[in-house]
Amino acid sequence: MTSTSGTSSTLITGIGSLVTNDPSAGSGGPLGLVADAAVVVEHGRIAWVGPAAAAPTGTDQVFDAAGRAVVPGFVDSHSHLVFAGDRTAEFNARMSGRSYTAGGIRTTVAATRAATDAELDANVARYVREALRQGTTVLECKSGYGLTVGDEERALRIAGRHTDEVTYLGAHVVAPEYADDPAGYVDLVTGAMLDACAPHARWVDVFCERGAFDGDQARAILTAGAKRGLTPRVHANQLTEGPGVQLAVELGAASADHCTHLTDADVAALASASGSTVATLLPGAEFSTRAVYPDARRLLDAGATVALSTDCNPGSSFTSSVPFCIAVAVREMGMTPDEALWSATAGGAAALRRTDVGRVAVGARADLALLDAPSHVHLAYRPGVPLVAAVWSAGVRIS
Ligand code: NIG
Ligand code: FE
Repeated sequence: MTSTSGTSSTLITGIGSLVTNDPSAGSGGPLGLVADAAVVVEHGRIAWVGPAAAAPTGTDQVFDAAGRAVVPGFVDSHSHLVFAGDRTAEFNARMSGRSYTAGGIRTTVAATRAATDAELDANVARYVREALRQGTTVLECKSGYGLTVGDEERALRIAGRHTDEVTYLGAHVVAPEYADDPAGYVDLVTGAMLDACAPHARWVDVFCERGAFDGDQARAILTAGAKRGLTPRVHANQLTEGPGVQLAVELGAASADHCTHLTDADVAALASASGSTVATLLPGAEFSTRAVYPDARRLLDAGATVALSTDCNPGSSFTSSVPFCIAVAVREMGMTPDEALWSATAGGAAALRRTDVGRVAVGARADLALLDAPSHVHLAYRPGVPLVAAVWSAGVRIS
């Protein structure tokens, strides 16, 4: 990995098609497309955006995109990267007919507890780097494979070395030690574990699902987290219909994630909360569990705000690739290529309540992905092809 300084100024010119996500900047509706565009990056921020013919001169460096497309860096608002081991055997069995259940999480819990700090740190670094090479410049990361006070706290500390978007997911499943006492585990998650974890996290999450935590337990955990300054997000309605989505909206959660099994009332709730609770769709999970995809079209037509993320984790979605998720969302979930790109950038930013990322506008962080293609549409049109040719993270070029 090489980089150039983020403190100097760089003109990126010759951009055949620039997605800004700033409707006032160009054509193409919400994507704010600018053809034959240029961008000036200064001190890690976007300093100028517009037609290449009108670009300022005199920057320290010039980069010629040679007619290719540039998009905002992807904002992956849902991942579980602090883990050890993998679940190849479980995946293999599933592809031979076994179904996915929450129970497999405990396999990763055992491996994660047995790992050293250095091993866990190296794993997170590896997957963050893997994501970055594929255009992801902001990545949320959850705990949830420790399930003891010490192991959850250490997961958050390790995640925090790699990202600011850290989520406390002590309520991933009931820890094995509490299998006969789930209420006792909820007490732990809302008590001593929360005390240890709250200083290291921005968000609190619960897997609200049959086999994990029910609506009342989820409410108790999210409310306790909120009292400690953590903003809720919810694993909701992944495997079955249930209370997760309604709870997320009621508690003003930043996102309801998965949203695969929704009633009309769930869709209406997400639509009415479109300014605050984002419906985050995670097609990697349905792909890797051979399950039915969420219906993005239904949510978009109702007026919900939709984000697309990877859910990268060793059990249900072992992909760090946002371009893969975009391609699946377009092919299988009723999204247009424009909608999918927006959801993977501005949508992810909305799910993390960030306005400094997910768009290319003056003052925003200079997070950019150069595609080896003339248009962002190729992300869906050329599935599986490594189209991300260069990435700038806060103005620093990663290659
Ligand atoms: O988002 N749904 C809960 N958690 C993960 C799965 C984690 C695992 O299977 O290890 C998910 O899909
Ligand atoms: Fe998840």
